[in-house]
This record gives sequence, structure tokens and C-alpha cells, in this order.
Amino acid sequence: MTLVKVARQGEIGENTGKEINVNGTRIALYYASGKYYAMEALCRHQDKPIAPGKVDGEVVECPWHSWHYNIRTGELLDYLSGVKMTTYKVDVKGGDIYVDV
Ligand code: FES
Repeated sequence: MTLVKVARQGEIGENTGKEINVNGTRIALYYASGKYYAMEALCRHQDKPIAPGKVDGEVVECPWHSWHYNIRTGELLDYLSGVKMTTYKVDVKGGDIYVDV
């Protein structure tokens, strides 16, 4: 795994997400309650982008058909058991945001 600079602090508003592409890997980067989270960017339901989903605490709602995921653990919170998105460690240094990919 390698830390890759992906954004500057302030680029992502509170309780929102932004899709980033790190060497071909699509990642949804979220900022919620003062923390950054990184999770794979395509919903496990129909592979649609989940970064624009509504964020409430550690939960994002997929904007397509309302599946809910914990953005810290990647776990799907409804519909099916055992579904887990890949999550990535996020680090902030000197105003820069890094994701461990
Ligand atoms: S694509 Fe996310 S809920 Fe359907």
C-alpha cells in the first residue's frame, strides 16, 4: 500500500463526498463530522457511483436505490448480509489528504 495525495483539505464540504481516481482505482472520499473516509466508489448493487450519496454521520445512502453503507467499515447496512465495500486508510498532513491505496 502507498500513501497517495488526493486532495486538499477544504475541497470536500461537510457531509459530502467526491469521487477520486488513484492510478485507475475509483474511490469515494467523504468528509463527515470532522473526519475523512475513503471507500470504493461503485455501489455493490448495480455498480453505480456512490460518492454523491447523502452522508449522515458514518452512513452514506446510495443516490440510486438507497442502499446504506458504513463509510468507516464499508459494511452494507440493509438488504443483504455480508456485503462489505473496500475501505482505505486516510491521512491528513499539512492540509493535504492522502489515501493508502
Ligand atoms: S446502485 Fe446503489 S443502491 Fe442501486
